[in-house]
Amino acid sequence: MKTIVKEIDAKKIDIRTIQEAGSILKKGGLVAFPTETVYGLGANALDEEAAKKTYAAKGRPSDNPLIVHIADVQALEEIAVNIPAAVEDLAEHFWPGPLTLILEKSPAVPYGTTGGLDTVAVRMPSNLAARELILAAGGYVSAPSANISGRPSPTTAEHVRQDLDGKIPMILDGGSVEIGLESTILDMTVSPPMILRPGAVTLDMLEEVIGDVSVDQTILGNESDIPPKAPGMKYRHYAPKANLVLVEGEEENVIAKINALAGELRKHEKKVGIIGTDETVSRYLGDYVVSIGAREDEEGIARHLYRILRDFDELGVEMIYSESFSSQGIGQAIMNRLLKAAGHQILEV
Ligand code: TXA
Ligand code: MG
Repeated sequence: MKTIVKEIDAKKIDIRTIQEAGSILKKGGLVAFPTETVYGLGANALDEEAAKKTYAAKGRPSDNPLIVHIADVQALEEIAVNIPAAVEDLAEHFWPGPLTLILEKSPAVPYGTTGGLDTVAVRMPSNLAARELILAAGGYVSAPSANISGRPSPTTAEHVRQDLDGKIPMILDGGSVEIGLESTILDMTVSPPMILRPGAVTLDMLEEVIGDVSVDQTILGNESDIPPKAPGMKYRHYAPKANLVLVEGEEENVIAKINALAGELRKHEKKVGIIGTDETVSRYLGDYVVSIGAREDEEGIARHLYRILRDFDELGVEMIYSESFSSQGIGQAIMNRLLKAAGHQILEV
């Protein structure tokens, strides 16, 4: 299959491009498109066959449910039942935006989309092109991140092309995404509601609107004993090809440790990548040293993480050492993804 890449400018949307992409989705085909979090691989969420194509293109296990993307709040009533009252407040505060809600599903949503579950994940993205596409497709677009299963999520159309070229008919290229990490997932079927995946909408932000919220304890811990509650979180996700180890401790100790470990491997001709920050990057030695941004700019760190992991893959880096970050606020999402990519290998110094 030939994959067409079409540019789409969220500030000046070309309606013909949207119509074309929408009609592929209506016919049961797949289209990758930008959202504010990461690029998604869109399909008609109410079409069981389209869900099968999604799993095949990503090489994703079909027990891992998809998120249904909608463009207006009214659309919720078609796909969810017994909607808790707090959902109205959440929608008002955080939609459109990077928050996914787990609700009881209606019969309209096929089990192919929910991975066999009686619940459905729903989100309204803020990217305007994404919302126009959802409307053009009939209102319900399932979209996992548009990467091959197990690779870091795509934050540019080029990342999508690297993974899915030849497997899907169309990619909409809307440039780099704004956030760079997947949406926060909040399970509204339990009391109190529980965060299953941290993202840009943080625990504090949610509690300010709906009061008590709990957090799935596997998010930052080592998940070998208890399975996480979002099926997709159990896979070694967000992973670069290289082995990744986080080093945590006082800045001076971290720099010394990473330089020592990397130096040792370089003696054996290994390609070693180092992820530092603006504050420390000049103090690392080696050919593959990058800054993920300034330490106080956590949004920047979130935005750069997946691109850096992919760039290291492209360069054939075999081992990556990374600094570690605070797990407060959006830092919780950053550390959750980094720890997963590292398979929880963390060195305290
Ligand atoms: O930001 C995002 O959410 C992106 C963009 C494209 O919108 N999408 C995304 O989808 O990250 P995906 O498929 O890569 O991740 C969906 C996650 C998986 O971990 C899945 O297990 C969980 O959501 N999930 C979906 N439906 C669920 C349900 N009914 N119950 C629990 N977890 C669910
Ligand atoms: Mg994903």
